[in-house]
This record gives sequence, C-alpha cells and structure tokens, in this order.
Amino acid sequence: MSDRLAALAELVTPGLRGGAAYHVPQFPNVVAKLDANESPYPLPPALMSGLAAELAKVPLERYPAADGGPLRALLAAELGVPPAQVVLGNGSDELIALLIAAFGAPRPGSGHPAILYPVPTFVVYRIASVAHGAIPLEVPLHGDFTFDLAAVEAAIARQRPNIAFFALPNNPTGTLWPPEEIAALAARHPDIIVVSDEAYIAYGGRTLLGRMAELPNLVVMRTLSKIGMAGLRVGYLAAHPQLVTELEKVRPPYNLGSLNLRAATWLLEHARAWMTESAAAVVRERPRLMAGLRALPGVRVFDSEANLVMVRIGAPMDGRASGVWRALADRGVLVRNFDRPGPLAGCLRITVGTPAENDRLLEALAAVL
Ligand SMILES: Cc1ncc(COP(=O)(O)O)c(C=O)c1O
Repeated sequence: MSDRLAALAELVTPGLRGGAAYHVPQFPNVVAKLDANESPYPLPPALMSGLAAELAKVPLERYPAADGGPLRALLAAELGVPPAQVVLGNGSDELIALLIAAFGAPRPGSGHPAILYPVPTFVVYRIASVAHGAIPLEVPLHGDFTFDLAAVEAAIARQRPNIAFFALPNNPTGTLWPPEEIAALAARHPDIIVVSDEAYIAYGGRTLLGRMAELPNLVVMRTLSKIGMAGLRVGYLAAHPQLVTELEKVRPPYNLGSLNLRAATWLLEHARAWMTESAAAVVRERPRLMAGLRALPGVRVFDSEANLVMVRIGAPMDGRASGVWRALADRGVLVRNFDRPGPLAGCLRITVGTPAENDRLLEALAAVL
C-alpha cells in the first residue's frame, strides 16, 4: 500500500510538496474573534428576516445564473464599468487563481510563468502560483512594511512576471503602498498584468479604478468579504474586456451558488446603510485601538489603513509573541499569529472589532504582558 501511495505522492504538483494547507485554528469560548479581518457586525434582525424571505424564493432545483445575473450588473454599475468588464469569483481567492490559470503562458526562454508580489502579503498569491506551476517572484518590503519600488523594478528586470499582485492596503501588514506608484508601474510595463487588490478599500486606500481606461493591463479586484458578507464568498474584478474574455474561459460556469448570488444582490440593494455604518464604526475604532496598543510596554504598532493592525511584541526572535498569542486565545481573545522566522517574527495581527471587543483585547493583552 505504501509503495502505491508513494507512486501517487510523486504526482503532487512540485511546488506543493513541502508545504501545508492553509490552517485556521479553532478555539472554544471565544469572546472576541479578531483573527480573520471580518466585519464584527452581524446583520440586524430586520434585515436578516427580509433576506430569509428573499432566499426562500430561490429555485434550488435549478443551476445558478451562469453569468452572475443581476449581481454582475449591480457590481458593474457600482464600479462604473459595463458588465462585460466584470468577472465574479467565489471569493477573490478564486479570482486570483483564475488570473494565474488564464495568463500562465511562460515567457519566451522560460519554462514557467512568474507571478510577482511584495512580501509579506496575502498568502493566496503564493498558494495559487505554486498550484498552477508558476514561479512565485517574492519581493521583500522594507522592514517597516513600506513599498520598495526599486526592489520590484529589479525583480522585474531579472525575471519578467506575467502578473503582479499588489494588495492596497496590504494584508497582513495594514500598510498602504502608494497607489500612484503601482499605476506608474503598470504604465511602464504594459506587458505585465498589474492587479490592484482592493479587498480593504472600505477601510482606507485609494482606488485605481479611475486609471483603468488608460491602462488596459490594470485589473481592480474587490470582495464583499470584508464588509459584512464573508460567508457569501463573493469576489469581483474589473478588467479590460479582452482580459475578461480570457478569464471567462477558465471560470467554472456556476462558481457562485444561487443562494449566494441572491443574498449578495438583495443585501447590496437593501443593506447599504448598514454596510457603510459598520465600516465607518471600524474606521472610527482603529485609532483608539492603535493608541491603546501603543500605550502597552514592548508593543510596536505598524501603520494601518485596513481593518487590521499588525503589532510586534518584544524583539523579533525572542519567542514572546507566540506565548502572548496562546495566552490571549486561552482568554477567548483570538488574533492571528505570524510569529515565525522571517519578516513577521514577533508579529500578531489584530482585526479591529467592536468597541467592546477591542476593550477585551486591550485588557487581556495588558494582563498577559
Ligand atoms: C488582500 C486580500 N485579497 C483577497 C482576499 C480574499 O478575500 P475573499 O476570498 O474572501 O474574497 C483577502 C482575504 O483575506 C485579502 O486579505
């Protein structure tokens, strides 16, 4: 049996062999869930009942609308582009994979396509790259997680990537890299697809949507996940129609379920005020949380324009941060542990929660430290 399994192990895509699956630790008795960059605000009961009545009408015996139906038109209108310039994904995670799948031809003289992104950043850029046999071209940020344009240009000169992903603002660091530098990069390199991943746009940053008309290689990607609908798995992107034509060839025809499509459409039509106010409440809380964190001994707080705050506890390799993370989890306060050798050694990522959750976090952290 083991020989037979060994034979199968040899079939695993090379870049995946040494790695592990994306792991989300689960804990009982959670009092503050600040580990996944979600909105902390549940849908109010009146909206929940309206949504439930709407979902009861969905014909589950039928496949969903293959073209995204009214949701695609609604999101296109929101972005100010025609529906033919929009692709829907099962979360923007799927869109990242579709981009790499569609634009994966190796450059002449190279065996594999390269995918560029600054690091540390969103881990799915790497996962999707290796899953598709692409070479991850990882370009270190500066030590304070700001953008290193010279390093990006040097990497491009070394190995021309097919696609470059830039999270504006970035996860997990929260930093906002200058959007105009990213647009200028797209202008200088018209043969590279430049993706402005605007997952956290509700919390800060400046969109590059307005530059798309002059830059056909610029793709703007968004998601409903960070504004109260993470459970729906709806991501979307705007791109030049020619890019959309290629992306549509690799998109699974029914990638969004009927319930998700209908729920997202209904919520965008009926719950705008709730979304706007929930995001505004988080933005209002962010400086208070950051000030509270900065007041704690031995905590370095990095700038953030997203609904998350990256902190470094103690010195990079002193091992304190992991201990603090565990002690917080034991108190029911969940944050994300990034404390491992590398640029995020000593770092924990804290999602901005409700005022009460942020208080819980600050109290627990003060007690633990
Ligand atoms: C920068 C960035 N892009 C994309 C995503 C994916 O979001 P989703 O697949 O939920 O749309 C995330 C999720 O954390 C993210 O941080």
